[in-house]
Amino acid sequence: MNEKTLIKGKIHYVGVNDRNKHLFEGMWPLPYGVSYNSYLIDDDIVALVDTVDACYFEVFLRKIRSIIGNRPIQYLIINHMEPDHSGSIRLIKQYYPDIVIVGNKQTFGMIEGFYGVTGERYEVKEGDFLDLGYHKLRFYLTPMVHWPETMMTFDETDGVLFSGDGFGCFGTLDGGFLDTRINTDKYWDEMVRYYSNIVGKYGNPVQKAMAKLGKLPIKVVCSTHGPVWTENIPKVAGIYDRLSRYEAAEGVVIAYGSMYGNTEQMAEAIAEELSAQGIRDIVMHNVSKSHPSYMLKDIFQYKGLIIGSPTYCNHIYPEVESLLEKILLREVKNRYLGLFGSFCWAGAAVKRMGEFAEKSKFELVGDPVEMKQAMKDITYEQCGILARAMAERLKKDRPNV
Ligand SMILES: Cc1cc2nc3c(=O)[nH]c(=O)nc-3n(C[C@H](O)[C@H](O)[C@H](O)COP(=O)(O)O)c2cc1C
Ligand SMILES: [Fe+2]
Ligand SMILES: [Fe+2]
Repeated sequence: MNEKTLIKGKIHYVGVNDRNKHLFEGMWPLPYGVSYNSYLIDDDIVALVDTVDACYFEVFLRKIRSIIGNRPIQYLIINHMEPDHSGSIRLIKQYYPDIVIVGNKQTFGMIEGFYGVTGERYEVKEGDFLDLGYHKLRFYLTPMVHWPETMMTFDETDGVLFSGDGFGCFGTLDGGFLDTRINTDKYWDEMVRYYSNIVGKYGNPVQKAMAKLGKLPIKVVCSTHGPVWTENIPKVAGIYDRLSRYEAAEGVVIAYGSMYGNTEQMAEAIAEELSAQGIRDIVMHNVSKSHPSYMLKDIFQYKGLIIGSPTYCNHIYPEVESLLEKILLREVKNRYLGLFGSFCWAGAAVKRMGEFAEKSKFELVGDPVEMKQAMKDITYEQCGILARAMAERLKKDRPNV
């Protein structure tokens, strides 16, 4: 039984799968579900690393007991306080009243505030140490990956990094949890979506954490969501590094709103010309149908972004506006931006999207195209010019071969 849960040394996987929740954080779809990972170190001194969503406490407790039976847990290490991981703290404290909670200066106020839990604690600072017998843990503060109290725990004996949300992804663990023993295909897209939706704003803190942790001899990464990474560590670190630098691949996302199809025809004309110019990766999103979760994922993936909006009550179409807000919230950087839009009697959308261009600091490519009512020869021409300007800008970044 215990062999199935063993990761390395005396570290066991005791996380749970959530295939019930529709929207993570009330916003982000979970087509493949999500796992809440927790790890039990069954050493001379027993320690639990993070907990799980409170809905799964019964399952969680059974997993813990299948490994340690009725023996007590001495330490509960809290790397991150978001309730998807901290949710079972109060119940764990009820079942293990003598447990010592390990956290940093920022952690304990949150534990008391969310759960009313006080009691024995070990407050750690950067580089502090906890010896469990075989495993020897060191703590690294990684604020804002993804909350201010976030820290990571590194086992120096076996090179195991407990990384909290860092290096996590959506998608449940269907049977196995070790990357070497499962088909990992579904997780790669879900990693980009998880990063862009959840962590997206915190590129700088992720970079700082990676610079610090990059010096450690890491052999296993145990994050709080998704597989336990071993042979895929370089790939996972590469994805997090690229996304947190806001680096993107050649390609264009065209996100547009359209009530009656006129603005949509502009989008089609732009896409066709981009393709004719040799741009292979073109992703089109009708903002009223595509969920923002997926649009953000693609915007983090591709360097070109072309936004289209009809004028709506003298404003940007609300669904487009909502996407623009989400992009600004995440402080996405270094994109090439194109704009187009339409109106019937007095255009406002294109002008107002100019404010987005300024706020985002994206490089505006070509002239924004504004159409009155429906497509005309001149609109096709203007859309073509915008598309060619975008294609040319992207091609300038191609490595010389
Ligand atoms: C609810 C509503 C509000 C609108 N508000 C404006 C407006 O304030 N100014 C304007 O010029 N056109 C306005 N329009 C007209 C549209 O912007 C115009 O018909 C546009 O071409 C629609 O593009 P679409 O076919 O892609 O939906 C409005 C249309 C609707 C349905
Ligand atoms: Fe989180
Ligand atoms: Fe999380």
